[in-house]
Amino acid sequence: MNAFELYNPTKLVFGADKVNQLGELIKPYGKRILLVYGGGSIKKSGLYDDVLFQLNGIGATVRELSGIEPNPRLTTVNKGIDICRTEKIEFVLAVGGGSVLDAAKAIAAGALYDGDVWDFTVHKAIIQEALPIGTVLTLAATGSEMNGNAVISNWETKQKRALGSKHVYPKFSILDPKLTYSVPVDQTVNGIVDIMSHVFEQYFSLTTDIPLQERFAESILLTVIENGEKALADGSDYDARANLLLAGTYALNGTLPNGVTTDWATHGIEHEVSAIYDIAHGAGLAIIFPNWMKHVYKERVGKFVQYAVRVWKIDPAGKNDNEIALAGIEATREYFTRIGAPATLGELGINGEQLERMAEEATQFGSIGTFKQLAKDDIVSILAASL
Ligand code: NZQ
Ligand code: ZN
Repeated sequence: MNAFELYNPTKLVFGADKVNQLGELIKPYGKRILLVYGGGSIKKSGLYDDVLFQLNGIGATVRELSGIEPNPRLTTVNKGIDICRTEKIEFVLAVGGGSVLDAAKAIAAGALYDGDVWDFTVHKAIIQEALPIGTVLTLAATGSEMNGNAVISNWETKQKRALGSKHVYPKFSILDPKLTYSVPVDQTVNGIVDIMSHVFEQYFSLTTDIPLQERFAESILLTVIENGEKALADGSDYDARANLLLAGTYALNGTLPNGVTTDWATHGIEHEVSAIYDIAHGAGLAIIFPNWMKHVYKERVGKFVQYAVRVWKIDPAGKNDNEIALAGIEATREYFTRIGAPATLGELGINGEQLERMAEEATQFGSIGTFKQLAKDDIVSILAASL
């Protein structure tokens, strides 16, 4: 096991109607609040009214930034930064999915930085401070509610990059499974795939003798596989939505990478695809991940055998290791297809024109991944197999 440090300061407040604690949770941080949200789902669901009721209850002065895009854009983040400066905002409240949370984090860091917030994504500057953030999550997927990461798209340069800091962990996140009842089928599917992909990135590792981390990962996968299908069958199944929500948080809140060398190549590749084509992150992952698996499984076939047997219950009798591993990869593909995720880039109208460019961008700082280090040619192969 590798040496590691674990730090997670986010207070999780989980359960039905917990938004009624919002006012009390914000109180210690100030009264000048920037409310950040997306394209309107929170107005349709009535959550917006509940949030304003809470903010009014503490006498808050509220400014709003709405219209955060899925794959949030730098231009929109900059609008939020301007509001924070001119309105002397003390606290940034994100209400929505991962994109809204990520935008809020970038705004909170950018507001206290003299330069361009994009600097944080290209390692030109390190986040030294940020306004405090709180979140009310409405979609199970990214884990942004309990981590210090944000992913922002620069639409002019067609780049999608991450920033990360201990300063942008939410002070609190409210997770009410009922708020995810209205998530449409396609976004529920994208969330399921994203959660599973976060586990894959940390589970397919060359680090050995880590049974606790492996079983944590497998338990999240099994939970998502079972409850994902239940939530798709009945979007208002409280327990299924609750289990998905918690799985999403645990998949990326710093629990799984403890002592483990993690991979993250597939996320790197997917970010290049969505940077150019603006596709949903989960849809891109559903296409690319099985092809990444096929490309790398021979590096440590035993791990893929374990995955196949423990997660997909593949019967190893009469099969060699490669056959078992490939059966597990096929089961992954079949599950994604069964729940309605795309299997090829072609289905999203993407052809091979930009493969070289995407592979180039993904490897601009060198090879990516650790399970197998991927050079540009590897990425071209994985993307070509994904067409
Ligand atoms: O904008 P609104 O109207 O709110 O609608 C959203 C949006 O259209 C809708 N939605 C959200 N909650 C809903 C709902 N519709 C009805 N009812 C609800 N309760 O869903 C759509 C997608 O929302 P979005 O926030 O984009 O989805 P997600 O949570 O999957 O976030 C994706 C973004 O997160 C990044 C991705 O790259 C992508 O930009 N990621 C962030 C990570 C992190 N911070 O740690 C890690 C991830 O790997 C990922 O890269
Ligand atoms: Zn992801």
